[in-house]
Amino acid sequence: MSKYVVTIVLAITLATPVVYSDNSTMTKHLKVLIASNDLPVSGVKLLQEHFTVVQNRFSYYGDDEKVQSQEECLKLVPGCSAIVWASSHSITDELLDKAGPNLKIVATASAGYNHCNVDGLKARGIKLTNTPGVLSAAVAEIAITLMLVTARRFTEWLQQVESGKWVNGLDKYLGQDIRGSTVGIVGFGGIGQATAKRLAGFEVARIIYSGHREKPEGKALGAQLVPQDDLFQQSDFIILSAPLTNETRHMINRSTLGKMKKNAIIINVGRGDLIDQEALYEALKNNDIYAAGLDVTTPEPLPADHKLLKLPNVFVTPHIGSGTERTRNEMAILAAKNVINALTGKSLITPVLP
Ligand SMILES: *[C@@H]1O[C@H](CO)[C@@H](O)[C@H](O)[C@H]1NC(C)=O
Ligand SMILES: *[C@@H]1O[C@H](CO)[C@@H](O)[C@H](O)[C@H]1NC(C)=O
Ligand SMILES: *[C@@H]1O[C@H](CO)[C@@H](O)[C@H](O)[C@H]1NC(C)=O
Repeated sequence: MSKYVVTIVLAITLATPVVYSDNSTMTKHLKVLIASNDLPVSGVKLLQEHFTVVQNRFSYYGDDEKVQSQEECLKLVPGCSAIVWASSHSITDELLDKAGPNLKIVATASAGYNHCNVDGLKARGIKLTNTPGVLSAAVAEIAITLMLVTARRFTEWLQQVESGKWVNGLDKYLGQDIRGSTVGIVGFGGIGQATAKRLAGFEVARIIYSGHREKPEGKALGAQLVPQDDLFQQSDFIILSAPLTNETRHMINRSTLGKMKKNAIIINVGRGDLIDQEALYEALKNNDIYAAGLDVTTPEPLPADHKLLKLPNVFVTPHIGSGTERTRNEMAILAAKNVINALTGKSLITPVLP
């Protein structure tokens, strides 16, 4: 009897390397560029298991190392089969041309792809993937955070704490409730829906959303599709979680701000250019609306002396929506898996351009 067991065990042991053949030797010659020095290690390691990875030594987020990182990308990209884009800067035609005919896919470690030169990629037949889904919860948490800190006037309160002069009192610096409010969500995709889900405990009166069509998930979340103008007119909180496109650019402008309630609070976790910032500044300064909480601005970083930052009714965070350890790792791994699939003939997990 035991002889059979030994034989079976032996057979399985010997068979194992054959069944799970490691294909990485077949792809190791393919070169993959990581366009920034800050992709979480989990994603870098996964790519290194399959490919020859070249990585930008510079950060590619703000302006500090922009020139060096651009130059380094141009230097490293020739012959690459894939680029993992971990940058808010735009993908240039020059970079795509420098890459040459090997380039099959760009995987951006972001949900938004307004900076990814979709026209340029399409023209060259290059695939594009993004990382939606995995970041919805983290961004929704920041949307809720910004609702709370703007409704409860944190900018002013924190100034008082810093100065040591508290003007506390039963009728001083009163904020407003989320309870009983109408929350309008512009862009009811993953982030918008995750935000609605998280509002479930806040006893809001209504959740409404705008968009091209009714979303099947809306009903379960107690959210109702309304025309965009109705949303602007009726909402106490307006949450922007729409992608930036030609259609949505400056959707918050003088005209739409003029339709809002005096106590309206605008939260932007989408992209800075959804808002005409000059018009927003005027509306906030004149108290035409109550406050704004912005995780995204134009430009980023917003200069420290920017006039928006001098207003008492603005709270700005430096584009940290997806910035948790877990989420950034999941984004890096999803981007890496998309690259692996693209270069091994499998279907993309989260395609933008399949
Ligand atoms: C290895 O390659 C073979 C043939 O291309 C494929 O069928 C198999 O799924 C690959 N295995 C892995 C683990 O990717
Ligand atoms: C957006 O507008 C720009 C400039 O007007 C144009 O070049 C581009 O093709 C437009 N993109 C789409 C997707 O319509
Ligand atoms: C203002 O936004 C609305 C809808 O968001 C749009 O229809 C209108 O064209 C915009 N106006 C300007 C001047 O951008």
